[in-house]
Amino acid sequence: MSGPVIKCENVYKIFGTNAKKMLQEANGNVDAKTFQENGCIVGVNNASFEVSKGEMLVVMGLSGSGKSTLLRCISRLTDATGGKIFIEGQDLLQLNNKELIDLRRNKMGMVFQSFALLPHKTVVENIAFPLQIKGMKTEDSISKAMDMVKLVGLDGRENYFPRELSGGQQQRVGIARSLAVEPDIWFLDEPFSALDPLIRKEMQDEFLRLQDKLQKTIMFITHDFDEALKLADRIAIMKDGIIEQLDTPANIVLNPATEYVRKFTEEVPREKVLLIGDVMDSSTSDLGELKVSKDEIIENVAEKILTQEKSVAVIDNNNKIVGSINPTKIINTVFGGRKNNN
Ligand SMILES: Nc1ncnc2c1ncn2[C@@H]1O[C@H](COP(=O)(O)OP(=O)(O)OP(=O)(O)O)[C@@H](O)[C@H]1O
Ligand SMILES: [Mg+2]
Repeated sequence: MSGPVIKCENVYKIFGTNAKKMLQEANGNVDAKTFQENGCIVGVNNASFEVSKGEMLVVMGLSGSGKSTLLRCISRLTDATGGKIFIEGQDLLQLNNKELIDLRRNKMGMVFQSFALLPHKTVVENIAFPLQIKGMKTEDSISKAMDMVKLVGLDGRENYFPRELSGGQQQRVGIARSLAVEPDIWFLDEPFSALDPLIRKEMQDEFLRLQDKLQKTIMFITHDFDEALKLADRIAIMKDGIIEQLDTPANIVLNPATEYVRKFTEEVPREKVLLIGDVMDSSTSDLGELKVSKDEIIENVAEKILTQEKSVAVIDNNNKIVGSINPTKIINTVFGGRKNNN
């Protein structure tokens, strides 16, 4: 398939009885405050973007900025008030019920912020259930579900009910249930937020390992910038329903589009985000022996560069020298590169 897997064109989600009418009257100029004064809440405000196959788009933003609502529109758990959404070129809002069920069952997976487990089914039954709906034999579905139970570290608890599990454990059941179906398009709403740090890191690593192998198209919501940096191909930052910037992690940190985005990324350790190629100089004269790739993350080669007397050659994939980097540049980057007046 060519073209984007997910495509949004001027998508709006407005809550309230007069939402449709107000949106029409606003003529593409939706002001959250005015809408609120008229009893409407703006969830998503004019979102346009594409996600390509195998890409992981991470959505960030403060609580209430519209992240979950955006995901719910694209998975059509709720209907957008305006705009168009295409999934693999198909107009989502034109699908009939049967087509929509088909899409949900076979193509899309979702892990919810609130775990949404079936209370009267055990762990393993919860995970096996969507497989059975897809027509898998009970025995096979249970066996596959048990593999997933092990994957998320819940073996021994497969016959517990959701109420007998902690929040983090319930979240792991939700992840396992969604993983079992192997959807092509995956929506994850803060899937790891209820996990403690060690398990969270393990799940992230496992998730990356799987993604490397399976190349799913993913939209992933998180509050945690470190998590976003670790996982994202691109990051969308939302505020009051508006996507303020959608860009690579490096561009978001280097060239924040708005003051809000700049504030959001202020605390991000730059050396963890930026690549040598993002900060190198174009000069290639008077270089020392050492060479580093333009695709290295600064953090990984900073120490090596800091011990050099001369500028270090930066090379591309073909070993061609494309620029240089010197210790001062590294120090400037790590410490913010701001002019200091003291
Ligand atoms: N069903 C609903 N009815 C009315 N307003 C809603 C509804 N769902 C969401 N909203 C409003 O839409 C806005 C966006 O909510 P949303 O849940 O998308 O935020 P979020 O970015 O996911 O926040 P969080 O990080 O807290 O999960 C909020 O102002 C919220 O109150
Ligand atoms: Mg949310």
